[in-house]
Amino acid sequence: MTQNPLAECWTAVDDYIEQHLIPSNPVLEQTLQHTEQRGFPSHLHVAPNQGMLLAMLIQMNGCKRILELGTFAAYSTIFMAQALPEDGYILSIEGRDTHIALAQENIDASGFAHMIDARLGHASNVIQQLPADTAPFDFIFIDADKQSYPEYLEICLARSRTGTVIVLDNVIRAGEILNPDNQKPSIVGLRDLFSAMQNHPQIASCTALQTVGCKGYDGFAIAIVK
Ligand code: DHB
Ligand code: MG
Repeated sequence: MTQNPLAECWTAVDDYIEQHLIPSNPVLEQTLQHTEQRGFPSHLHVAPNQGMLLAMLIQMNGCKRILELGTFAAYSTIFMAQALPEDGYILSIEGRDTHIALAQENIDASGFAHMIDARLGHASNVIQQLPADTAPFDFIFIDADKQSYPEYLEICLARSRTGTVIVLDNVIRAGEILNPDNQKPSIVGLRDLFSAMQNHPQIASCTALQTVGCKGYDGFAIAIVK
């Protein structure tokens, strides 16, 4: 995809936001550095100001139990762990073995390993295998393969309670969701996600926000469970 001519400006503004509003955080900075040293890409992490938004949503809602689909390097995972009380818990599921190994290294170095249960597997299998008496999750962050978002929404709703907040990353994809020539499974999956969220019987309210910044042009969807 060609770089948007405004991307330099978006990145500079993200840097400005980060410098002013996001406290310096050696644990998270170490996570980014270690990920880069290991040769993994940097565009798959959420941006610092986006991680801060996740942390604030968790704190605003007094969440204790978090489910994350798509761990990658555990940058968002560690960001969210820092927003939890000492008895908080995060189950983070990652489908790629190379990513989960990197994630576990970052988690072990973060000091939050006691709160983070990072597991390798397909999210639907891992979630189906949770014990029947598993308590519902308070906050769910879906940031995995976009093609499966409609399925992930359903399995996450089944593990929610009234008031659970569900955030989904990368739902706009530089506007490709509106490009009729784009029939990639990931884009089709996002269109199906929007259709599923529309008037969903288990969703009380739902919106999506387009975002620009150091990660390009994309967006978050957010839902409150009925
Ligand atoms: C991609 C996936 C992400 O979750 C993300 O935040 C950015 C990019 C990707 O697959 O390209
Ligand atoms: Mg993402």
